[in-house]
Amino acid sequence: MKKQITVGVIGCGYWGPLLIRNFRSLSECRLKSVCDLDIARVKHACALYPDVQGLTAPERLIGAPNIDAVVIATPVKTHFSLAKASLLAGKHVFIEKPMATSSRECEELMQIAERKGLVLMVDHTFLYSAPVRKIAEIVQAGDLGEIRYVNSRRLNLGLFQKDINVAWDLAPHDISIILYILGEFPVAINCQGNAHVSPSVEDVTNMSLFFPHKRFATIQSSWLEPRKIREMTIVGSQRMIVYDDLQTHEKIRIYDVRVVRPPHYDTFAEFHYSYHYGDSYIPHLQQEEPLNLACRHFIDCVETGSQPITGGREGLEMIRVLEGASASLKMNGAPFMFGSSNGAAPEPSSDGARHSSKPRKASRTTRNARVLLRGV
Ligand SMILES: NC(=O)c1ccc[n+]([C@@H]2O[C@H](COP(=O)([O-])OP(=O)(O)OC[C@H]3O[C@@H](n4cnc5c(N)ncnc54)[C@H](O)[C@@H]3O)[C@@H](O)[C@H]2O)c1
Repeated sequence: MKKQITVGVIGCGYWGPLLIRNFRSLSECRLKSVCDLDIARVKHACALYPDVQGLTAPERLIGAPNIDAVVIATPVKTHFSLAKASLLAGKHVFIEKPMATSSRECEELMQIAERKGLVLMVDHTFLYSAPVRKIAEIVQAGDLGEIRYVNSRRLNLGLFQKDINVAWDLAPHDISIILYILGEFPVAINCQGNAHVSPSVEDVTNMSLFFPHKRFATIQSSWLEPRKIREMTIVGSQRMIVYDDLQTHEKIRIYDVRVVRPPHYDTFAEFHYSYHYGDSYIPHLQQEEPLNLACRHFIDCVETGSQPITGGREGLEMIRVLEGASASLKMNGAPFMFGSSNGAAPEPSSDGARHSSKPRKASRTTRNARVLLRGV
């Protein structure tokens, strides 16, 4: 019989209990301990799962010899120290987004994980969701034609964070999806925003990511919106996709519409003929909880020694984008160029840089990882 991977979760606030539930549901692992500095949160988790050990000192969980993997769901400013201590103690690490507060911290975590042969995975949850995987499949098959732009809106009232602004809190979801489906790292970014409620913590931001070949993506993030909105539009030269994550069944709609400029036209009426209005259709998606798939993927990577789809490298790329956004915010929205001195993009090429996870030729480990995700 295969040995079960033993897991401990640090952070039992809002997101931690979801991780606790999911890791506990997997037969390949055994959730042994949960930890929070706040005893009330530990009591809450232990009331739900009485067989799980509750701790208030993270060093006790990290140092426990019978724990193989540590899951970190604490505020961002604590990610680095908890992850570093866990890796140095020989534990595999699953860390919440965003991975850390700086790219330097991400690089250090990646180096330790590599040196010790440990799995370091970042929870970019949406990359494990059926709609996003379907969109990536459609884009990579070329069904949309050339991608012209992506527009994303993630808006709601709250939850206000104290240590990070709304760009670091909400935009990571959009950034991870955009880098994944475009398969490229941006060449520049600009970001504007305002702090209306807490001084110097922006609660509304608008950012634009510029990619090679004139492609761009805009991301609007807000904690000050009366309605909850989770919408992304991907505009291609042949077709377009509208992804509404709040829909229960029809999360993606593909529009067979395009505008083709006629080579020549004499009247305004003729110009209209260049609009193509075709059908729209809704692909079937297999419903599965993305977080459950992410947890399973982590355990699978620990068992097989595979690189996660959202490993340290993808976590680092995300932080580089966020650092660029923060730099631009400080310059009142002036563009920040990703370059060797101020935020080097990985694997530079003549026309920009490939995003690490997609859509390169898959290595064996990546292919292994994708097998798990097939059929989502
Ligand atoms: N993947 C997603 O979709 C998603 C969604 C929500 C939150 N998150 C991420 O999860 C993380 C936690 O967010 P949250 O909303 O649950 O925050 P939260 O404030 O609700 O919970 C954090 C918990 O960590 C505890 N804590 C703080 N420092 C600690 C330490 N050093 N040791 C042990 N416990 C400590 C706090 O007492 C608190 O209970 C953040 O990184 C956030 O970005 C991810």
